[in-house]
Amino acid sequence: MIIVLIGYMASGKTSVGKKLAKKLNYKFIDLDDYIVEKENMSVTEVFKEKGEIYFRKQESIYLNKLLKSKKNRVLSVGGGTPCYSGNMDVILNSKNVKSIYLKASLNTLVEKLMRKKATRPLIAHIETETEMTEFIGKHLFERVQFYNQAEIQVSIDNKSKDDIVEDIILELF
Ligand code: S3P
Repeated sequence: MIIVLIGYMASGKTSVGKKLAKKLNYKFIDLDDYIVEKENMSVTEVFKEKGEIYFRKQESIYLNKLLKSKKNRVLSVGGGTPCYSGNMDVILNSKNVKSIYLKASLNTLVEKLMRKKATRPLIAHIETETEMTEFIGKHLFERVQFYNQAEIQVSIDNKSKDDIVEDIILELF
């Protein structure tokens, strides 16, 4: 089975994914890290030097490739992955794939992203909390229609990573 973790930036897809994979004894793959390795550039560099359209194209190519694996995997994807190139349909229609939306409130995301924006080219330029709230509010509104299609939703607000992993396992098995 491939367990795909989706959700907005900073919803914990990578850290929760690593813990979940360890617990299930599955291999963990992070799509952003995979892109960085294949492109030999950081996500910020890809956005800057090749542009977002190129990033989205590569993201979709690598996602399609990884979803074809027959092995057990936990795959965390980028916040934008389900929202472009028909990727959410591919996730939903792939065999042996379970999608999980790590759902965070706007407040949680703003609080986390004010601290973690530097490596995220879409929000790195935002300075104040007010601007961040306005940006994420709109962006999330556009994206939830994709995230909400996931087969399982797990709320992450005020939960430890271990509790989130437990919640996911309860929903899955
Ligand atoms: C993006 C999220 C990032 C990364 C890129 C674009 C997005 O991944 O793919 O910066 O569009 O939300 P994380 O969700 O892991 O931060």
